[in-house]
Amino acid sequence: MTKQILLLPGDGIGQEISKEAEKLFNWLDQNTDLKFEVSRELIGGTSIDVYGEPITDKVLRLAQDSDAILLGAVGGPKWEQLDFSTRPERGLLKIRKELDLFANFRPAIVFDALVPASSLKAEIISNLDIMIIRELTSGIYFGEPRGIKKISDNIKKGFNTLVYHSDEIERIATVGFETAMKRGKKLCSIDKANVLESTELWREVVNDVSKKFPEVHLTHMYVDNAAMQLVRNPKQFDVIVTTNMFGDILSDCASMLTGSLGMLPSASLGNINPKKKLRKAMYEPVHGSAPDIAGKNIANPLAMIQSIGMMLEYSFNAFELNAQLKNCINNILKKGYRTQDIFNNPNEKKLNTSEMGDMIINELEGSK
Ligand code: IPM
Ligand code: MG
Repeated sequence: MTKQILLLPGDGIGQEISKEAEKLFNWLDQNTDLKFEVSRELIGGTSIDVYGEPITDKVLRLAQDSDAILLGAVGGPKWEQLDFSTRPERGLLKIRKELDLFANFRPAIVFDALVPASSLKAEIISNLDIMIIRELTSGIYFGEPRGIKKISDNIKKGFNTLVYHSDEIERIATVGFETAMKRGKKLCSIDKANVLESTELWREVVNDVSKKFPEVHLTHMYVDNAAMQLVRNPKQFDVIVTTNMFGDILSDCASMLTGSLGMLPSASLGNINPKKKLRKAMYEPVHGSAPDIAGKNIANPLAMIQSIGMMLEYSFNAFELNAQLKNCINNILKKGYRTQDIFNNPNEKKLNTSEMGDMIINELEGSK
């Protein structure tokens, strides 16, 4: 059956990398058993420019009815002056919340050929393979009350609320343990239970859930220590489960272990959509809209391409296709092809965004 994909390129480099994504969907459509129908819609600043809001109800409905969503990136200086409630980022947060995409998977995998591109020593990061699972629809990102209030003539206060309910912790912890069971049976839960009650509860609930997974070796770590351990000895981690905000920060940190933020895909999953008998799912690169390089055709499309890889595996159970895609990326990197963000020495061959996209298709053709 044809898969209905909602493509939301968004802002900045989201536009350019989405073109490369479309090339890949076309190739898959023509060369594999999977058939795709890709429709493009607006989100973020590009939606604000046309409709005055970062996501319209129509796009939210299409998102609810699609088999999977692929998103580029949102945000940029053009829209930074807007009121908080209408900024591009609200579009992304709204789609995550409305579809209840509570489980965000952010793998940090180091490709052999990119070991020299990392700022860390080769022995620290070679063969690194971590899965960060970030809670995505609660915590301080969504807690109420929130806002900025004037409390006297010359003093204002800005405030947010960090709140977690035990059922929210239970469901993300369960995803963490289930993922650990499929990998190295090792789970590290990251909190700040020494200071924040919300994460004291987090730790308590994670411990309760662990009773259902006796085979998984569970550890707990405070977030400040975890940030340090990620750069000191990242290979001590296998699966990490953490809150929305801590996951946001730690996943950027983990991405640099791999050489470039431009390499990292992500998947955000919700519950089964009964109409589709499929998990609600959105896939997006971890990097942002990179306004400084937008429109120059130099962005790295590989995080976007790998996000499609995650889609093939997580939404459509096409494990072999994802493996084939990863293999192609590996080969391309081994041959020395690089976009500028991972370009490391003069022997490498620099490609722009569309050339890298074409290279993926060439390599897939060669692997048939
Ligand atoms: C991310 C981004 C988003 C977030 C922004 C763009 C709202 O940084 O997906 O990591 O903070 O979740
Ligand atoms: Mg982030």
